[in-house]
This record gives sequence, structure tokens and C-alpha cells, in this order.
Amino acid sequence: MDFPFDINQLFSERISILDQNLSASRRSMERPDLQVQISAVIDELGRASAKAQQLAAPVTSASKLQSQNHQLYLLKDRESGGGRGSAVGFLKVGYKKLFLLDQHGVHVEAEPLCVLDFYIAENLQRHGYGLELFSFMLQHKNVEPVLMAYDRPSKKFLAFLAKHYCLVQSVPQVNNFVVFEGFFLNRSAVHLRRTPLKKPDGEIKPYSMVAREVVHREQRTLPWPFAPPQSPQRSVPSQCSHPVRVGFSPSRASSPVAPSSPLGGSRDQIERYREKRSRYRS
Ligand code: COA
Repeated sequence: MDFPFDINQLFSERISILDQNLSASRRSMERPDLQVQISAVIDELGRASAKAQQLAAPVTSASKLQSQNHQLYLLKDRESGGGRGSAVGFLKVGYKKLFLLDQHGVHVEAEPLCVLDFYIAENLQRHGYGLELFSFMLQHKNVEPVLMAYDRPSKKFLAFLAKHYCLVQSVPQVNNFVVFEGFFLNRSAVHLRRTPLKKPDGEIKPYSMVAREVVHREQRTLPWPFAPPQSPQRSVPSQCSHPVRVGFSPSRASSPVAPSSPLGGSRDQIERYREKRSRYRS
């Protein structure tokens, strides 16, 4: 995604981490003109993500990021855009207090890290960029994908989770969040707490229920997450690229220092995946 300004000047790293401050560096924090450009990039990516998911309104924008305690990982390509760089995509995560049902239908209160929005530019999808962003975030947050919750994941994202992380069997919920088997095994890791069966006062709704309005309502047959066409079970991979470990303890706080290698041990896997894909395409 190209912009009429220098993306490389705004974002010095291949993957930048943005939060309420909307700044990728001290310099951009001190320059209102750069802040305006960063906001324009976030807004444009948010709009593109909403369009790709057929949402009536974006769930990601600069103003929303400023008012919520979320983090946005932005991936750029330094070389494209005539040397000025271009935005490849983003991943937005945040902690949310959720009321979930475990495998036995018992209400559980949890505050997991949630994937709230995820988008790779259309022409760059299925090239491994999503995996690059997602593995960077996992390393930065020190969390396992099975211990996360997913806010109304799209069909493509469910296929992504099945392929790369073997996340296939979800535990049915009555809200728009999806969690997978294994989520409830490590109580301390996801801050689980049994709650009384009575509906709690002031239940916290995922904002997907408030803000996300799917444009093509006629596509809805059964309420989420019971609709069979999107059942992740259908795309069980024989082998996923990243094995899932349960029992790993994530830390709620971000690592104090950004990972020295954004891809950690997974760079080879991502490269292998990209090679495989380009062989497949040619
Ligand atoms: N159809 C089905 N599965 C798809 C897909 C598509 N059009 N695009 C990606 N995937 C899944 C598949 O499992 C794919 O593996 P395969 O090509 O071997 O079948 C895998 O993702 C590719 O991994 P990767 O290249 O790392 O993913 P990506 O760069 O395409 O990023 C998304 C994944 C979901 C972020 C990206 O496809 C996207 O932006 N989609 C549109 C927006 C969206 O649905 N966001 C999720 C919000 S909940």
C-alpha cells in the first residue's frame, strides 16, 4: 500500500509497534506533521481491513488506537514505493476481560491477549507476511497462540491459524470470540477464574458486537460460532508449520526490549514457506 509520503521516514524498523502515542520513534513523537502521516497510514490500513472483512466500519483507526490500550504491529516493505517504502499490513492486539465457556460449558472469566484486527494488503496475501507479523507479535508478547482469543476471525484467518499453528478445534462461545482447545488448560496463563452461572452485571461486550456489522447479512445462517461453513475443522492440516505448546506461561507485560531478531527462530520457516508458495505459483 503506497502513500504520497516517505514510509521509511515514518517507520524505521521493518515492523513497528504503535500504541496510544501513535509514534514509531521519538522523532515522530516530536513532529506533529509525522504524527498526521502515521495517522493517515493507520486509517487507510484500517479501512482496507474493514473492506476485506466486509465490515460496515473500520475497527482500527488512529483515533481508536489513541483511546484504547491496544498495540498495533505495522509491517512495511522498505524497497517498494519507489524507494519510499510501502505499508504491507498490520496486526492489532490487546487484553480484554471476557466471559467464556470452557469445554464443559462452565462460565469462566478470563483476560487473555486478543487478536482484534489483522490485515495484509490484498496483492501480498499468501506470501508469508501474515506469518511474519504474527510470529513477531508472539515473540514480543511472549505468548502462545493457543492461549489467545480471536475476535470474530475471518475464514482466511481461521485457515491461517489451522495451517501455521494447528489451531483447529474451537470451544463454542456465545460471543464473537473464538478460543481453541488448550486455552483452558493453563489457568494462570490466561488469568482464568470461574464465574457464577448468573449473568454478571455490566458484562463486557467485545467491540465486534457493537461496532462490527457485517455488510452481507444474508450470508448469515446460524449465529456465530455455530455456522458450519466456517468451521475450522474442515481445513485440518496434515502438518502445521508451527507446533503449538500448551502450558507455556505468557507474560501480560510486553518484553522490555523489542526482540533482537523479529522472527526469532521462525525466519527459516517463513522463508521456506515463501519459497514453497512461489514454487507453487510458478
Ligand atoms: N483463502 C484461504 N486461506 C487463506 C487466504 C485465502 N484467500 N489467505 C490466507 N489464507 C491462510 C491460508 O491458510 C494460507 O495458507 P495457504 O496459502 O497454504 O492455503 C495462509 O493463510 C497463508 O499464510 P500467510 O501468507 O502468512 O498469510 P497472509 O499474509 O495472507 O495473512 C491474513 C493472513 C488473514 C491476515 C490475510 O489473508 C488477510 O489480510 N486477509 C483479509 C483480512 C482478514 O480476513 N483478516 C482477519 C481479520 S479477523
